[in-house]
Amino acid sequence: MPLKQLPAGKMISFEGSEGSGKSTQIARLAAQLQKRGLDVVSVREPGGTEIGEQIRNIIVHNSKGDEMCAETELLLFTAARAQLVREVIAPALVRGAVVLSDRFLDSSTVYQGIGRNLALDPVHQINRFAVGNVMPDLTLVIDVPMEVSLARIRQRATDVPDRMERETIGFYKKIREGYLLLAKGMPERLAVIDGTKSEAIIEKKIWAHVQKLLK
Ligand code: TMP
Repeated sequence: MPLKQLPAGKMISFEGSEGSGKSTQIARLAAQLQKRGLDVVSVREPGGTEIGEQIRNIIVHNSKGDEMCAETELLLFTAARAQLVREVIAPALVRGAVVLSDRFLDSSTVYQGIGRNLALDPVHQINRFAVGNVMPDLTLVIDVPMEVSLARIRQRATDVPDRMERETIGFYKKIREGYLLLAKGMPERLAVIDGTKSEAIIEKKIWAHVQKLLK
């Protein structure tokens, strides 16, 4: 859909490195919001549409994925995002839903811009082109030390880790630092949540931010 109308709903994105516990917290928040009678739409990136899932497959599982250059990776992630915004997120916001997104444009800034050393200006421009006027009202960065993140990745890894999971320790260090830097620069939108606490405590902290947004 064209992105002219201003959204009536609210969008909350979740960010953080792999194994930070985003999906658990998204499910908990969705349940809380639904209990209160709100229309909740949960999406994940990359994916969430048929085209997006196909793109996800190319990026994450392509056996030749190791040869993909950073520029292609950025364009594929943002292509999947452009589709998700127009097909799912914008219509949901227009009808007043609360959209919970497992990753959004900040993932491209941090993983492709900071992690893969792409120049940040074009990354921001491409991100903006992909999302149009759809921006998260709140972004929750679940922060865990790299060691915790890596241990959780290893624990859940199936037979063959996907190509993002095969990255080096140095890469994940940059990702964590990148998120913290981004949050420092945009405190009005991004909030950092300590992901080493118990699931219940993290849920409470998240709820405090969400209540402020929805009141
Ligand atoms: P996830 O399903 O565990 O979140 O994995 C998605 C992977 O894709 C994760 O390694 C982060 C990466 N990613 C990017 O590098 N750039 C992006 O823009 C997005 C959305 C994800």
